[in-house]
Amino acid sequence: MKRSDINAIIRDAWVFLDEYRFPLPPFANWPAEDWRSKGPECREIVDRGLGWDITDWGRGDFAHHGLVLFTLRNGTMDNLRAGKGKVYSEKVLIVQPGQRTPLHFHWSKVEDFVNRGGGQLVMTLYNSTPDGGLADSEVTVSIDGIERHFAPGEPVTLEPGESISLHTGLYHGFTAARATTLIIEVATVNDDHGDNRFLEPVGRFPAIDEDAPPTHLLVGDYAAYYRA
Ligand SMILES: [Fe+2]
Repeated sequence: MKRSDINAIIRDAWVFLDEYRFPLPPFANWPAEDWRSKGPECREIVDRGLGWDITDWGRGDFAHHGLVLFTLRNGTMDNLRAGKGKVYSEKVLIVQPGQRTPLHFHWSKVEDFVNRGGGQLVMTLYNSTPDGGLADSEVTVSIDGIERHFAPGEPVTLEPGESISLHTGLYHGFTAARATTLIIEVATVNDDHGDNRFLEPVGRFPAIDEDAPPTHLLVGDYAAYYRA
């Protein structure tokens, strides 16, 4: 992705989140250059991967294969294994109609997706087979506390206010319909480096063409700027 496009996507995300009265914490707006002088007190942000996470899944086509995420909080896998401390995570996602997040499942993370407003969140769900393929069995999920059953791959549409719980090993992909949609992900600890099983190979974090200076850092940029 071009850095100039990433800067513009973050600018648009601020406008959208303002419209939905969803304020972000102060570090979301720290200028990229300020990160060079940040001290060890900011280590949790860096180590837990909090912040902006823009991806095109390595496809080079953000309009059809793009997603804006901002990780608000996250624990560690050690927390989760011990059952102590921060065993949870939270992200905000902005999904545009036409943008498809590829099918994947998690070995560890249990996540709820909450449609907070805008359009519809349309999910595609499959059980996984033992060798990581798509099963042709019926899918059972909880939608706002109600057990629901769907045919494999059947679109599952969530209106604003609705939420779905995704268990481990359940393949899920999603898009939005009607309008750009604000999604909150409430989950156990997030590990984007070890806990994502994509059906097809993807580039989880984008290769960046530095055609302009970054206005804001992505989680993948911290290593180049943060020295504490
Ligand atoms: Fe997921």
